[in-house]
Amino acid sequence: MKGFSRLTVIDHPLVKRDVALLRDRRTPSHQFRAVLRRTASLMAYEVTRALPTRGVKLSTPLERTRGTVIAQKVVLVPILRAGLGLVGGFVEVLPDARVGHIGLYRDEQTLQPVDYYFKVPRHLGTALVIILDPMLATGGSAAAAIGYLKRKGAKDICLVSLVAAPQGVRTVLRAHPSVRLYTCALDRTLNKHGYILPGLGDAGDRLFGTE
Ligand code: PRP
Ligand code: URA
Repeated sequence: MKGFSRLTVIDHPLVKRDVALLRDRRTPSHQFRAVLRRTASLMAYEVTRALPTRGVKLSTPLERTRGTVIAQKVVLVPILRAGLGLVGGFVEVLPDARVGHIGLYRDEQTLQPVDYYFKVPRHLGTALVIILDPMLATGGSAAAAIGYLKRKGAKDICLVSLVAAPQGVRTVLRAHPSVRLYTCALDRTLNKHGYILPGLGDAGDRLFGTE
């Protein structure tokens, strides 16, 4: 992506189809939840593409051969609430991953993140830490989450969003240039309330049926 060399836009046709379903205001919560989970699994393939592997010896029912195992621990860290919608899809393809949680919400007036919960596994220093949050808007929440994880020792960090605004990508990369960003759509801009345009609305509300 021009100007954002650390950003990968996942534009597989199956992902694009799912993003359209998630954007559509007529998509009810139960379908939103199911589609977000499916999209997360598709994203996981791209995000984990460069994971290191190690060869192992094994026996099939017929003979000895060699196989492959993943050689780096993976820690998933959803940002509450909406990030929870991506966890199921990721653990489906990364069953050994550990899961931490970061509780943040955006103050409606200031748009600044307010933190209320942190719980992450120990030994983050050698793990691939994948932060999950469908929405990257101003970037305040993501930048705060990354700062916290770095203070806890994380070094290899990816930020996974479904939809991102250019403002959010810029803010995160300015504060944390070593982080790799993945999104399914780089949208146009933010409105005056900090919502992504065209976006998909309030991801937490759509996921959990609150409003
Ligand atoms: C949403 C979203 C991100 C944040 C993005 O959470 O899930 O965490 O806003 O905005 P930012 O990039 O401007 O910080 P929200 O604050 O609505 O909390 P919720 O998931 O609990 O509804
Ligand atoms: N949070 C959301 O859920 N949606 C947006 O568009 C921006 C922040």
